[in-house]
Amino acid sequence: MTSEQASHVLAIDQGTTSTRAMVFDRSGRVVAVDQREHRQILPRAGWVEHDATEIWANTRAVVGGALAAANLNATSIVAVGITNQRETTVVWDRSTGEPVHHAIVWQDTRTQALCDELAGDEGPERFKARTGLPLATYFAGPKVRWILDHVEGARERADAGELLFGTVDTWLLWNLTGGAEHDGVHVTDVTNASRTLMMDIRTLDWADDVVEAMGVPRSMLPEIRSSSEEYGVCHPGILIGVPVAGILGDQHAATFGQACLDVGSAKNTYGTGNFMLLNTGDEIIESRHGLLTTLCYRLGEQPPVYALEGSIAVTGSLVQWLRDNLGLIDSAAEVERLAATVEDNGGAYFVPAFSGLFAPHWRSDARGALVGLTRFVNKGHIARAALEATAFQTREVLDAMEADSGVRLTELKVDGGMVVNETLMQFQADLLGVDVVRPRISETTALGAAYAAGLAVGYWASTDEIRDNWAEDRRWSPSLDPAERERLYRTWKKAVERTLDWVD
Ligand code: G3P
Repeated sequence: MTSEQASHVLAIDQGTTSTRAMVFDRSGRVVAVDQREHRQILPRAGWVEHDATEIWANTRAVVGGALAAANLNATSIVAVGITNQRETTVVWDRSTGEPVHHAIVWQDTRTQALCDELAGDEGPERFKARTGLPLATYFAGPKVRWILDHVEGARERADAGELLFGTVDTWLLWNLTGGAEHDGVHVTDVTNASRTLMMDIRTLDWADDVVEAMGVPRSMLPEIRSSSEEYGVCHPGILIGVPVAGILGDQHAATFGQACLDVGSAKNTYGTGNFMLLNTGDEIIESRHGLLTTLCYRLGEQPPVYALEGSIAVTGSLVQWLRDNLGLIDSAAEVERLAATVEDNGGAYFVPAFSGLFAPHWRSDARGALVGLTRFVNKGHIARAALEATAFQTREVLDAMEADSGVRLTELKVDGGMVVNETLMQFQADLLGVDVVRPRISETTALGAAYAAGLAVGYWASTDEIRDNWAEDRRWSPSLDPAERERLYRTWKKAVERTLDWVD
């Protein structure tokens, strides 16, 4: 392999609804992409599963597809970066590579009773000082415990050291580096580990007492490493000989790809859910306003960088729900046209508490509601209310972020599928009262993972190149009267109240 041939970085972006592989060049430009959706398995209300074997097969297929589209082969790839849907939990047999159960997805609420039991008298904040997280169904630890408690023989096999746990990054890395046959590497990075409810956010190692309370054998857990270093080399069959050198949970990758490298810089990603991360540097801020303390990234041996995060479970997936469950639109893009048929929401407010409410409420007893209805309301208003729900929820998170950090944001960098929606972005700027800014390279998640991998192998010399590659594409500035803005937001808060205490 000559260095001239090895000219690109490949990122695998394993998301909630699909898996993508993207090839990047040194300027951060996307050279080729391939994508496959996987099944959403919904066995009962509140349960969401994925087939980890299908995800691994799709990963192999899209890597091959992206290389073919770029007219490159493995010898042209200097390093691979992995970024992934976080918290989604896979448990598999180390000697066969077979998962013992479908992956339990981050949106799944089956562990509610378990979380209540673990909270006990100390309440949902029992592990918050250690892990940065409240006890909630969102996180991986209780999902592992659920599998061990409910899959026949799993507890015994885990105790005997036969089973491995991983979030999706770990599952893919283990398979890429040889799997059962060639002793795959069993590693995760600090950002993914910070979503398990089992990592000590100060030591960046597993918190033994928390792991024990969670009822998870230590032998199942991967080793925690930085987000940018060589973890292992790909085995025959896929990207042979190429080092895997970057791992970041998808929201952390987007933060990195958006060049939020300075304290006080923040991004908001509009995907199935919304996730706002604020870089807090070396400071571990314990939230008093319903946010999560999480790792932002860690580059090799450098000190870790921390973040505050506001996670919203349902934003883009509400548009999918309008399409798939109600048939109100034929495609996600159509929601904007439908919303544009009306002047405003007509008094309708849609609180999509389908998985309870995440930040800043953390109310698993909430369920979705469409309120403020009169005979005047038509489907245009409902489409508009669905879009506005994303913006209102983001305002709640931004307020919490400013209250926790004392930082007043002057602008918000945005990315993700929904940022092509002009109506939403303008309303977002109106509702926040700050500029909303979209970068020219909108594939920030995959790009962040590519940067982490490329930095580890010297393809990019330093983070200065990440800053230099970032460029503005489009900016929306607030134009709504502030009094009207606050009136709308007050009404939204009333709508949220209506969704609470729904589940006994
Ligand atoms: O925490 C869940 C998040 O990582 C999922 O992101 O983009 O797959 O919806 P996305």
